[in-house]
Amino acid sequence: MNIFYNYICLLFIFSFLRLSESANFLVYCPLFAHSHHKFLANIAETLTLAGHNVTFLAPIIARKYENVKYLEHTKDVIYVQPDEELEKLGDRMDSADFSRFWTEEPGVFAMAPMLNLFSKMFHKVYENFKKDLTVLDALKDRKFDALFYEVIAFNAVAIQQYLQIPTLYPTFSVTHHVRLSNSIGEPASPAVLSSPLLPFDDQMAFSERLANTIFDFSTRFFIKPPTIMSYNYPYDVIDIEEAESRASFVFLNSNPYLDFPRPLLAKTVLIGGISVNTTQINQEKLPEYFQNVLSKQSKNVLISFGSVMYSKDMPEQYKNTIVRVIESFPNVTFIWKYETDDVSFAGNLENLHFSKWVPQTALLADSRLSAFITHAGLGSVNELSYSGKPAILIPIFADQARNAKMLARHNGSILLDKNDLGNFEMLRDAVKAITENEKYPIHSEILRRQLLQQPIPPRDLLVKHAIFGAEFGELPSLNPYSRKMSFHAFFMIDIFLFLTAILLLFIVSLVFLLKAIIRKRITIIFRGKKQKTN
Ligand SMILES: *[C@@H]1O[C@H](CO)[C@@H](O)[C@H](O)[C@H]1NC(C)=O
Ligand SMILES: *[C@@H]1O[C@H](CO)[C@@H](O)[C@H](O)[C@H]1NC(C)=O
Ligand SMILES: *[C@@H]1O[C@H](CO)[C@@H](O)[C@H](O)[C@H]1NC(C)=O
Ligand SMILES: *[C@@H]1O[C@H](CO)[C@@H](O)[C@H](O)[C@H]1NC(C)=O
Repeated sequence: MNIFYNYICLLFIFSFLRLSESANFLVYCPLFAHSHHKFLANIAETLTLAGHNVTFLAPIIARKYENVKYLEHTKDVIYVQPDEELEKLGDRMDSADFSRFWTEEPGVFAMAPMLNLFSKMFHKVYENFKKDLTVLDALKDRKFDALFYEVIAFNAVAIQQYLQIPTLYPTFSVTHHVRLSNSIGEPASPAVLSSPLLPFDDQMAFSERLANTIFDFSTRFFIKPPTIMSYNYPYDVIDIEEAESRASFVFLNSNPYLDFPRPLLAKTVLIGGISVNTTQINQEKLPEYFQNVLSKQSKNVLISFGSVMYSKDMPEQYKNTIVRVIESFPNVTFIWKYETDDVSFAGNLENLHFSKWVPQTALLADSRLSAFITHAGLGSVNELSYSGKPAILIPIFADQARNAKMLARHNGSILLDKNDLGNFEMLRDAVKAITENEKYPIHSEILRRQLLQQPIPPRDLLVKHAIFGAEFGELPSLNPYSRKMSFHAFFMIDIFLFLTAILLLFIVSLVFLLKAIIRKRITIIFRGKKQKTN
């Protein structure tokens, strides 16, 4: 009897284990910009390696990403070909010329045309699915437990409804998304939380808070997602923000040990750093050429401005200053990621090596590399933080300025303005400090160790939350009521007005009372005097 009972118990537990062990995930990733795909691909790979079934649905927008291999272990990848109109939008995305930002200040609205283009692209993808539902119909019997998508690709919500996927997981490949915070009812006051696209940190002066507030309000009202309707009868209008608010979890590319602290809901899961695979980086072999370059001298510096801003496009003045600075450090070898063969401006410096491509992670992992000069893109900042190398951060545009401030706060790097690239003394002093001052490697090493030893690694956070949501679906217990409160109730404007009114009433009554008493006193005194004189 007892044995039988135990057996039933075991069977019961076993069936539950199985249920919570393997789930079916759909990762929706329109192909339009490298850093975004990389983040979603890492989510897919992590889930696949944890033993789950992952389908990667990738509508092509920009052609050049069609043949980039983002996935190794995830085999179920579905590409959707673009039509002519969508491809044109992809070309616009592709040919967007950012080189003007080498000199121009990215103003509050510099990114607005780009954000608008995103909206247009994703709306077109939405319409293309509507025109031809066969791709989605083929997915109907997969019984997905949850859908991952990037919050800017809002058309994913229509796919979720059409495929009746119970759980929605918005993600963002940047540190945070203010509209998403608002949707889920997470505190995101522009007084304390700066937009990722603005160059502010968590201590904002009045003018910065003003700019942040104006940016926050205007993006909320002018760069709204367009209206979309569900793909099946009765073709209801989809309330995207309402759908987002019901998300079980939200996954962001921010790491609490690196980013500025801020109040979060339990449904916000910070998986920043998930793109950094330290096992893989440690196994990487540095190509022969770089092996030789690094062994020439005891100090080596890598210069790279990433794959969006090209060094070849920077003003001549910047290039010449960099060359002069390099010339003043004959005992330091510099490797500069530079995109063309025409490097005559550099003369023939012995300690400068140009390369069109650099194995960035392998170089950062090499003990011979002393420092990194970078544009502070989020991918590079994450890799850099995990490598423990000191850096000179020179942000150019987009989220780079905030990323740079986020990392510089840890005291392992030096933050420069891009205009300083034209200032010989500034740049030379920074290079001297970063290669000679002991404090920078000490602080960057502390950050590296903290990231490696964070109590719950980003991959575990992702997998555990993903299967929890897959098991239980929507989690209304995690939805704060504050989300539904009106503006005046949430910011206590009604309370302040009420209390102020009461206080005023009290003061007015007091004044009247005092006046009345004083008047009475005076009349009494007056009468008294009158009586005396009588
Ligand atoms: C995962 O996929 C395999 C192969 O297609 C299938 O046999 C299995 O049932 C799937 N798992 C779940 C949880 O649906
Ligand atoms: C990390 O890299 C190792 C070694 O290449 C590989 O086996 C593993 O699958 C990778 N992990 C992820 C999540 O990509
Ligand atoms: C470079 O190294 C040599 C030999 O170690 C030394 O004599 C020289 O002073 C160094 N130059 C600078 C600029 O540090
Ligand atoms: C960085 O340095 C400042 C000023 O010395 C200090 O207040 C701060 O705590 C340091 N931060 C870290 C992460 O070490």
